[in-house]
Amino acid sequence: MCGIFGYIGNKEAVPFLIEGLKKLEYRGYDSAGVATLNKNKIFVSKRAGKIAALEELLQQKPISGQIGIGHTRWATHGKPSDVNSHPHEDCSGKIVVVHNGIIENYLELRRILSDNGHKFTSVTDTEVLAHLIEENLPAGKAGFNGDLLQAVAKTLNLVRGSYALAVISEHEPNKIIVARHGSPLIIGFGSNECYLSSDIPAMLKYTAEIIKLDNGEIGEVTKDQLKVFDLAGNAVSKNSELISWDPESAEKGGYSHFMLKEIHEQPNAIRKTIEGRISAESHKIHFDELNLSDEEIGKVNRIVFTACGTSWHAALVGEYLFEQFARIPSEVEYAAEFRYRHPIIDENTLVIAITQSGETADTLGAVWEAKAQGAKVIAICNVMGSSIARESHGVVYTNAGPEIGVASTKAFTTQLTVLYLLAILFGKRKGLISESESAKLIADLIEIPSKLEEALYQENEAERIAEKFHKATNALYMGRGKGFPIALEGALKLKEVSYIHAEGYPAAEMKHGPIALIDKNMPVVVLALAGRRYEKILGNIEEVKARGGIVIAVASEKDQAITEKADEVLCIPKTSEALSPILAVVPLQLLAYYIAVKRGCHVDQPRNLAKSVTVE
Ligand code: AGP
Repeated sequence: MCGIFGYIGNKEAVPFLIEGLKKLEYRGYDSAGVATLNKNKIFVSKRAGKIAALEELLQQKPISGQIGIGHTRWATHGKPSDVNSHPHEDCSGKIVVVHNGIIENYLELRRILSDNGHKFTSVTDTEVLAHLIEENLPAGKAGFNGDLLQAVAKTLNLVRGSYALAVISEHEPNKIIVARHGSPLIIGFGSNECYLSSDIPAMLKYTAEIIKLDNGEIGEVTKDQLKVFDLAGNAVSKNSELISWDPESAEKGGYSHFMLKEIHEQPNAIRKTIEGRISAESHKIHFDELNLSDEEIGKVNRIVFTACGTSWHAALVGEYLFEQFARIPSEVEYAAEFRYRHPIIDENTLVIAITQSGETADTLGAVWEAKAQGAKVIAICNVMGSSIARESHGVVYTNAGPEIGVASTKAFTTQLTVLYLLAILFGKRKGLISESESAKLIADLIEIPSKLEEALYQENEAERIAEKFHKATNALYMGRGKGFPIALEGALKLKEVSYIHAEGYPAAEMKHGPIALIDKNMPVVVLALAGRRYEKILGNIEEVKARGGIVIAVASEKDQAITEKADEVLCIPKTSEALSPILAVVPLQLLAYYIAVKRGCHVDQPRNLAKSVTVE
């Protein structure tokens, strides 16, 4: 995700901007830039690459001033490049903006502005904002106090999408205009200076007194005050709050670990995955960057998913979804196996590479192999501009925001969200799903973020159960249908953060071996999800209990039959069978997390593990 930092006071702004942007690096970015106001003139310095590259540029060509805004870019529209980096300027160079979010109607606005003579230098949605503000400044009157704020308000009334925005201008060179809708923006108050940032940690070094802008608010920041309005120009009264976090914990937004923070970020992460891809009125699904025509989709007669680890588990769910909704024969391959076994694929095979980091060496190798064999390759990826995203013919970004914890959580559930939408899209293109069926399937998905928020209420239950079982040395996870990949994922979460040996298994296979493991010391986690196989999974639970085993069940809420049979139950809200994996994994993420914490493990950086395995 992009990051914004701003400073206004009596000191040089650039050191604050660089320090603040470095605190925002964890969000992931591909370029960085700053702009300052000095003696009523604007100066901009920006480039693709890491902040170190920007610092090098500033060494060569320093800029000064006591008002400044900075930005780390997480590319959404337009590849990472110097010209696409923020800040962006209007035609006059007297207005510069930095923006975090997505302006959905930027193309139509860009067309209107171009017709009005505006010249664009980048392909970003953000640059449209700079030109629109210029367009909305009262002609000839610019420079009167309040015009800039009104011009920004007028601009924001024209845009659709999400933004956190900071604007400085030579027209009113003693302030920063800020605004927020969907992407956070915080204002901090120091002694005769103010700061603004995408998150609290970046400014906590300077102040603990902050105000968070709310959606639809716009503000004027000077070095000693903040005035807030709504977009109609009505003043809004805001109370500051005092942050009690220490700088370290604040990086985790108050959570003890990034893993727990990211588990809790999943509802909003899924909202961001869906944002801009479903038109609310017609429930149409569209992925701008998929780069697959209807004709190409029509030709696909086989799908091969390839991935590693948690992403491989997402691929297993994807296999079920594509066969269910699009009736396309699908299979799942471990990337390392796929790339070396001379796979039989051709131009009608679609290879879908799933990866959070976009840098996993084996998955990258599988993409190269698939392309060499003539297959179309699309990536489902969480990192803009990553190697696998660049190497694939098309890409669908999960937009989960950077995932810091080594154990993948929000990346997984957003991968499942993308797979669900893609499977419906393919099913519709193949004429297998009607508009009304599609609308129902999408309506079910739109409910998921709030249902996931409900699933998170099981946190205390998960912690209590973790207390009971954190000394176990083995665990068996079982599921049927789409519950099977979730059993695998739950087992992987436990083993990678708590070092307990855990195995995921198709529940139907229990009698073919694992049943020999059952005893009173080994917890058996069962995905007892509603669906065609529900009665069978009840039978599996009885088989475990009959042999003195212990059952922890994940079940739909108010499922009396399971509650009577299992020793412990973690409930999830009711949803469709196709969407149940997204909810069912949450209690297992929480269970693994709390068991690891109780075992004193390094949850965010488990031993021997890397966040991205960039070597074979
Ligand atoms: C998952 O919790 C692990 N961190 C690991 O299995 C991971 O999913 C795997 O290395 C694949 O990474 P990728 O999604 O970035 O390609």
